[in-house]
Amino acid sequence: MKQKETLIEPMDIKDINKIMFIEHQSYPNPWSIYLFLTEIKNNKHAEYLVLRQEGEIIAYGGMWVIFEEAHITNLAVDPVFRNKGNGDILLKALIQKARDRGAKFISLEVRVSNSYAIKLYKNNGFIVEEIKKYYYGNEDAYLMTVNLEQR
Ligand SMILES: CC(C)(COP(=O)(O)OP(=O)(O)OC[C@H]1O[C@@H](n2cnc3c(N)ncnc32)[C@H](O)[C@@H]1OP(=O)(O)O)[C@@H](O)C(=O)NCCC(=O)NCCS
Repeated sequence: MKQKETLIEPMDIKDINKIMFIEHQSYPNPWSIYLFLTEIKNNKHAEYLVLRQEGEIIAYGGMWVIFEEAHITNLAVDPVFRNKGNGDILLKALIQKARDRGAKFISLEVRVSNSYAIKLYKNNGFIVEEIKKYYYGNEDAYLMTVNLEQR
């Protein structure tokens, strides 16, 4: 069977409609289009990537990298393409980008009920550092971190 062509690229303004489509299916409190555009256009610390398969965006993720620390802000896969390793491909690409930009440490918050995301992060070396009570208003978050120098 022919392998599907998969590409990781920087997020571009022209991608925004598909990003918003995935965002609204992925988060109870989705980011606004304005927030994404501000991140892509104005935030020099931001690094946003998309995963394209056969030309179509199926996932995206982003982070801020400030000196030695990176913080993942979002990671989402189109529901049709989940549980096929695409989240893992994208997370590994973000980790590599963080390393390339000199980060030694990555952190993120995740809902305590989000077992698939937690599994994905643990598979990639993240550990639960602390619980942030009511971080999402109605739900706690785990603060998860990975030390890139120890991997
Ligand atoms: C979390 C998310 C990004 C994972 O992406 P994905 O492409 O489905 O993940 P992967 O296919 O790479 O799988 C990652 C791990 O989760 C497991 N997993 C994912 N979906 C699963 C499912 N439906 N049933 C059982 N296990 C599942 C996989 O088995 C894998 O673990 P393993 O390799 O040890 O078996 C995706 O579910 C998503 O977009 N969720 C909504 C947005 C979100 O919650 N983002 C994270 C915010 S912090």
